[in-house]
Amino acid sequence: MPANLIVVDHPLVKHKLTLMRRKEEPTAGFRRLLREIGTLLAYEVTRDLPLTYIEIETPLAPMRSPVIEGKKLCLVSILRAGTGILDGMIELIPSARIGHIGLYRDPRTLEPVEYYYKVPSDLEDRRVIVVDPMLATGNSASAAVARLKQDGAKAIKFVCLLAAPEGVATFHTEHPEVPVYAAAVDEHLNDHGYIVPGIGDAGDRLFGTK
Ligand code: URA
Repeated sequence: MPANLIVVDHPLVKHKLTLMRRKEEPTAGFRRLLREIGTLLAYEVTRDLPLTYIEIETPLAPMRSPVIEGKKLCLVSILRAGTGILDGMIELIPSARIGHIGLYRDPRTLEPVEYYYKVPSDLEDRRVIVVDPMLATGNSASAAVARLKQDGAKAIKFVCLLAAPEGVATFHTEHPEVPVYAAAVDEHLNDHGYIVPGIGDAGDRLFGTK
């Protein structure tokens, strides 16, 4: 297992991923499963958040009790399929700030092209979690993280549903310090840049566009 790659192999994640992979899974089910896995991944990726203690009063007694330290997290979704994981993460982290990066893959070169970018202005003060279901070639994820670093982001994590070994390697060549969280690492990329066995086109399956 490459360094800085965390495979979240909880039985619930594995089970839900198997259901999603099936080509006969309808759009509604696929969407619900991606959201549910997003929530489970949010639980894992926030496991090491630092805590601070505040004074509170329960109905019975005062006490010092832990809360998460610092500014609200920033979740950044790579459009369009990132929305599917983002929805699940927001369920668990409802006060997170949200950024969006629109990137499409040029089908000929497989290189990312940016068409939208809107993120909170104080990225340098926040922990940033970038989400995209598929870490395939790694080019979009690398470009998105480079752009966020340009804007001051320092503490960044990347969360996906599936990763290809090639994508993890490319991503970590450019961003070795950014941990990648995935529900599974699949076998390889095909000639069209799709993860095999994978789930097919995450955006099309999420939005029912094919
Ligand atoms: N994007 C997808 O939607 N699926 C893949 O397998 C790779 C990239």
